[in-house]
Amino acid sequence: MNRFNEIAKSWDANPRRLLLAEKIFSAIEKKVKLNDKMHVLDIGTGTGLLLMHFITKVKQITGIDNSEGMLKVLKEKTHKAGVSNVDYMLFDAEKDILPENKYDLAVSSMTFHHIENIENFIRSIYKSLRQNGKICIGDLETEDGSFHSDGNAGIKHFGFDKKTFAALLKNAGFKNVSVETVFEIDKNQKKYPIFSAYGEK
Ligand SMILES: C[S@@+](CC[C@H](N)C(=O)[O-])C[C@H]1O[C@@H](n2cnc3c(N)ncnc32)[C@H](O)[C@@H]1O
Repeated sequence: MNRFNEIAKSWDANPRRLLLAEKIFSAIEKKVKLNDKMHVLDIGTGTGLLLMHFITKVKQITGIDNSEGMLKVLKEKTHKAGVSNVDYMLFDAEKDILPENKYDLAVSSMTFHHIENIENFIRSIYKSLRQNGKICIGDLETEDGSFHSDGNAGIKHFGFDKKTFAALLKNAGFKNVSVETVFEIDKNQKKYPIFSAYGEK
């Protein structure tokens, strides 16, 4: 059973997740000038905590995720809010292929540590972007395995080293790469730094 299908209905009840999506969005806005012609791809969109920040600022947002339960909550949310510029794709980043030359901006919040082969996936994101497209990924910096208090099933990386993540983006072809700490999550009497990784095609 996909852990996210089980947790989907109560996902938004945790204020820490809402705050984190806000912080990751503001890190994106500092790097990318959003406009009403843009098509944005949100990777591991979940219930759309990050995606919902874009709806009034860009033309179209595609939310992709491999959890039907999470996508169902997102669909209900956008339907209720009368949002018409969001589409959804059930998509497994470990094996499915993104369409090429399609998006202006690829974003993600807290998803990459669930994906085993991020090297291949980042290359596939590069191909999916139009010329001058941008990538902006928020996730955990290297942690000691204590972040997920419900256990580490489905966790493929205990966060990422910022230099290693920058090298992955550069090796995939991205230019003007930066990886910066943008926030710290207070949890389990510890602080978990969050990075925002940026690059341009
Ligand atoms: C920690 S949640 C973050 C959700 C959302 N971005 C947010 O900030 O609230 C990680 C999300 O990644 C999705 N995910 C995990 N592995 C995936 C994969 N291999 N392909 C696509 N999505 C995946 C999960 O279903 C989940 O919705």
